[in-house]
Amino acid sequence: MKRITIFTLGLILLFSCNTPKTSYNVFNPGQEWKDNNDVHINAHGGGILFFNQTYYWYGEHKVEGKIGNTAQVGVHVYSSKDLYNWKDEGIALPVDSIDSNSDISKGCILERPKVIYNEKTKKFVMWFHLEIKSQGYASARSGVAVADNPTGPFIFIESVRPNKGTWPVNVQEYHKLPVSNTVKSNYCGGKGCLPAHVDSLNILGRDFKNGQMARDMNLFVDDDGKAYHLYSSEENSTLHIAELSDDYLSHSGRYARFFSNRYMEAPTIMKTSKGKYYFIASDCTGWSPNAARSASADDIFGPWTELGNPCVGPDSSTTFHSQSTYILPVQGKNDAFIFMADRWTPENPIDGRYIWLPIHLVNDKIELKWMDKWDLSIFKE
Ligand code: GAL
Repeated sequence: MKRITIFTLGLILLFSCNTPKTSYNVFNPGQEWKDNNDVHINAHGGGILFFNQTYYWYGEHKVEGKIGNTAQVGVHVYSSKDLYNWKDEGIALPVDSIDSNSDISKGCILERPKVIYNEKTKKFVMWFHLEIKSQGYASARSGVAVADNPTGPFIFIESVRPNKGTWPVNVQEYHKLPVSNTVKSNYCGGKGCLPAHVDSLNILGRDFKNGQMARDMNLFVDDDGKAYHLYSSEENSTLHIAELSDDYLSHSGRYARFFSNRYMEAPTIMKTSKGKYYFIASDCTGWSPNAARSASADDIFGPWTELGNPCVGPDSSTTFHSQSTYILPVQGKNDAFIFMADRWTPENPIDGRYIWLPIHLVNDKIELKWMDKWDLSIFKE
């Protein structure tokens, strides 16, 4: 009897030690995606940094249930050499669970974290969309944190309303006129509650003194090392593209406004070897997916030309049930870009899925097509 038990135990042990970990050699958009511990990757609204031959994926760590739509843990980071298989590297930036007065106190809303590396300071700089705890989406701030290593720990520096007291390079004269109180009372903070002539409401002018609203965002480092912060501003109605300071820790004050009254959210950007910039964003419908938008420009400060919905085929009107979060340049290949998006599950955010699809450059436009499975061989060398 004893012998059998020991034998059985031995078998169980042998079997569990030898259970192969899930490993991938393809992308499976929309499916569960397991990390090195066989746990679904928890890095939503994410972005990727390539450093020292390694990719680092940063994203919102979500927990189960609706409370997971607020930040209970912080920013999660994973590493990978091949983009298919990801190692859990832990929490790069934890929320503050001790100081309830901290801007990033547990229960705040911390979304769309992105990390870039500063060659001059040798620091890793993270920016994210921050909503102070218990204020819904009213604060519309940007948080910044810094680290000596890609996996952190990131130290939170501050949160700001960008470009306080500075006009954009393409400011209009009417922006500088005093903002009347009647006009002020028309703002209610979302799409559908602003009239079509939103431009004349002069939200830019309203926020000039205290800094511009900044919600959905991204970062982009150009070939010359200059970094840019793209964010949905002016009650989400207008996108701002703002240059960061040389250390990437603040805004230089040089910025411009684009796509006025187009409610571009979830902005993402890429640059081809020919020097052309492409932009993909969503419409503004909260967690529900909508049709993506795209645009191109020869200069990051415009003019930007809208190119329409980049998605083709079935489910193109909902971006394949997802919303953009980042455009990932594949290293070692020419003009190879991956569109990264989130399929949100706001009832149980931890279960959100990732949609990664190759970006096709077709006749000066970009195209996204659904694929159940694909791998990097789709890109030419
Ligand atoms: C989306 C946005 C998400 C999140 C959500 C909240 O439009 O892209 O990042 O803020 O709204 O409803």
